[in-house]
Amino acid sequence: PAPGWTTRADAVVVGSGIAGLTAALELRTRVPRVLLVTKAELSSGSTVWAQGGIAAVLHPDDTPAAHQHDTLVAGGGLSDPAAVEVLVTEGPDRVRELVARGATFDRGADGGIALTREGGHRADRIAHAGGDATGAEISRALVAQIEAVQHDPGIEVIENALVLDVLTGAPSSGGPGPVAGVTLHVRGEGSRDGVGAVLAPTVVLATGGVGQVFRSSTNPPGATADGIAAALRAGAELGDLEFVQFHPTVLWLGAGARGQLPLISEAVRGEGALLLDVAGQRFMPDAHPMAELAPRDVVAHAIVRQMAATSADHVLLDARALGADFLRRRFPGITARLLEAGIDWTEEPVPVAPAQHYHSGGVVTDLHGRTSVPGLYAVGEVACTGVHGANRLASNSLLEGLVFAHRAAADVVRRFEAGELRDAPEVVDRPGDAALVAAAARSRVQRAASDGAGPVRSAASLERADAALAGVTTSAHREADVVAAPQTAEWETTNVHQVARALMRAAWVRAESRGGHFRTDFPDRDPAWERRVTVSLDADGTL
Ligand code: SIN
Repeated sequence: PAPGWTTRADAVVVGSGIAGLTAALELRTRVPRVLLVTKAELSSGSTVWAQGGIAAVLHPDDTPAAHQHDTLVAGGGLSDPAAVEVLVTEGPDRVRELVARGATFDRGADGGIALTREGGHRADRIAHAGGDATGAEISRALVAQIEAVQHDPGIEVIENALVLDVLTGAPSSGGPGPVAGVTLHVRGEGSRDGVGAVLAPTVVLATGGVGQVFRSSTNPPGATADGIAAALRAGAELGDLEFVQFHPTVLWLGAGARGQLPLISEAVRGEGALLLDVAGQRFMPDAHPMAELAPRDVVAHAIVRQMAATSADHVLLDARALGADFLRRRFPGITARLLEAGIDWTEEPVPVAPAQHYHSGGVVTDLHGRTSVPGLYAVGEVACTGVHGANRLASNSLLEGLVFAHRAAADVVRRFEAGELRDAPEVVDRPGDAALVAAAARSRVQRAASDGAGPVRSAASLERADAALAGVTTSAHREADVVAAPQTAEWETTNVHQVARALMRAAWVRAESRGGHFRTDFPDRDPAWERRVTVSLDADGTL
């Protein structure tokens, strides 16, 4: 639909997790009109669900080189060493700034920030808050800062605003045209209601992940791949899409469980909990020298293999040896969630199975968050900075959002002060909504994507998924005819569908197994594939 209202900004930040909030706070006062838009409330999104913590070198015995080593090993040879170096060297200062912004981390007996360990880390470097509520505390502190400065001098905030498309100006030298703003669908925010346009020369996407592409995920329902889909339609290059992280220990609620499933933090294994198969046997020591604390992809695949070997649809996480008092104090949120599910983990092991958790790929950026569309930045989970490679190291996600949002904002400020990125170009491209997918098709899309590109894939599974997704478009177009006025559900389903297709394509192209991409028809790592698979739209709008 044509925009019903139009406004202007110097920079638009889309999303209010750790990356979006940080970018907005860093842009504030240095770029005059900053507009922060978020899909629901400022405090919703994936960050608030983060349990384990944020990784950073904060102990005198730890070093950035050691953190870099662990990140590169977890990344399966595909991480960009320069991006990882930025992450690990700038990370500690950014975490200290978070503390200065009011985030309260758990402290040890010596008064210093308490540090724990998670899979793939060879040192204690995970800072946590509220025991297992790290993301909620970070979100609380940053939202409080945004609210405190909203009028002085302001960041304008629009909540309940779904980003529809990134607007662009005239293309130059064969590449996509520069950013001209965004279109939004706003639900009931005063005069800004319905579909509107924000004209701006800079857009920072911080829209999070793709959990809703899959049938079940630890991500909240709003993780519908909106930013990555909008970037794709605007001509941006996407990369590493095939690397989907399946968290090893998600509460198993039965074979039919769908949607957002409860996470049992990796920090529980960091504190000493063990994985057992349904016969009560430990299996991780045979799978990897780091046993339960191997990198996440290794643990998830070992669990999938053990489930197959025991004909079971789950394994067990046994935390009883940690003691009831410790479990209740250190993991209050998980303890409460398990009790809701009727499980007292101080007395019995917890049934768990891998589920979608994080997208290592996304919109390709440089070290300043710049994408291939001039003026378009991507930070946090939506971005592909090169840090994670084939598999993200535990608790590097909050850190990446923090570090690269800071860098992206600094780049925007630098360019603004140099007189660049001052005026939004005239809009020449407004991606149409002719191919909207009806909301009713969402479960078909999720089934196809989960069957095609779950923890175990093959050419056959991916081709079946691609055919099913193509079929969804054909039939959904007919259904869309009756969607006279598309709403959030149709736009979200369109995004989920478009990103599912791009992800299947990337997974089909990578004919090897590495990190979060395991193919039964190519079960080994192949040095010839030590490169990134990228996806973008052709001039005619096809993948
Ligand atoms: C967890 O707490 O296990 C999740 C941490 C992460 O995804 O890095």
